[in-house]
Amino acid sequence: MRKIFILSLTFLFVLTLSPFTQADEIKIGACIYRFNDAFMLRFRNAMSAESEKAGAKIEIADGQDDQTTQNDQIDAFIADGVNVLIVNPVDRMASQPIIDKAKAANIPVVFINREPTAEMLNSYEKAYYIGAKAEESGTQSGELIAEYFKAHPEADKNHDGKLQFILLKGQNGHQDMILRSKYSVEAIKAAGIEPVEIASAIANWDKLQAMNIMNAFAMAIGPENIEAVIANNDEMALGAVEALKNSDYNKGDKDFYIPVVGVDANASALEAMDKGEMLGTVLNDADNQGIAAVKLAVALASGGDVNAIGYDITDSKYIWIPYQKVTRGENK
Ligand code: GAL
Ligand code: CA
Repeated sequence: MRKIFILSLTFLFVLTLSPFTQADEIKIGACIYRFNDAFMLRFRNAMSAESEKAGAKIEIADGQDDQTTQNDQIDAFIADGVNVLIVNPVDRMASQPIIDKAKAANIPVVFINREPTAEMLNSYEKAYYIGAKAEESGTQSGELIAEYFKAHPEADKNHDGKLQFILLKGQNGHQDMILRSKYSVEAIKAAGIEPVEIASAIANWDKLQAMNIMNAFAMAIGPENIEAVIANNDEMALGAVEALKNSDYNKGDKDFYIPVVGVDANASALEAMDKGEMLGTVLNDADNQGIAAVKLAVALASGGDVNAIGYDITDSKYIWIPYQKVTRGENK
């Protein structure tokens, strides 16, 4: 009897003092800026699958593109006693209060997809960011267009040696909107082609908005005067493709074709590429970003070694997942 008592006391003691938490006790509170986003859906699926694999519990909240809603969700997760937060902020510039709350509760926080400033991340040693380098995707999508333009002299519809393009941009202030827009155009210049922006608009990553905008542009400018469409993501590229099809472009006839590029490599974009409706895209690796986010979260919550999760951590803060060009060989 006495022996059992001592044994169970020891057991209790070990349980309370151990800095390590078993994976099956870990609760992850994850916040996504908006569920209705094709790329973030892939991201969510990757995180759910990896959590199941790790035996951790994950709860994912839909911020509905509203920072106030998301802040409430973060408060609720903290009150609920989650061991770690994964946050895809609605407004990346509003990340500081989130970091402050996590710090006050001593809960690690892993940001994904929308990058807080270095200053914000540096204000808490348990704050991290996992994403992909936006400039890299910009460069790669610009290269896709430049390669096509060089391989297809007929793509220079007005024979002026310059590339008249339309730019469709994601949400204002998003690093992927700013840097993809900039670097795609830089890559065209670097390839020795003079880019001429004939129109641009913000379409908030959204297919329908992009389609409406592109319909208006095609009407105003005339599709015969558009030599390329560069979209900050696939959904907007697909919206542009729909609009061009309304003008009887990009339906298979090479004389009525405008190269369109996006970013993400969502299944719907790959399908459009297979059908010859869209030129190319850049793989935004949701699987690896989601897996890395959960592995890092589990390591942080369990007192494990963050450097042993299989992903390089830069500056004790960042995990960068590389982008990759995807084409169907039309560039050759
Ligand atoms: C980007 C992605 C977009 C959109 C956005 C949301 O990385 O390319 O499609 O999902 O993130 O923040
Ligand atoms: Ca031209």
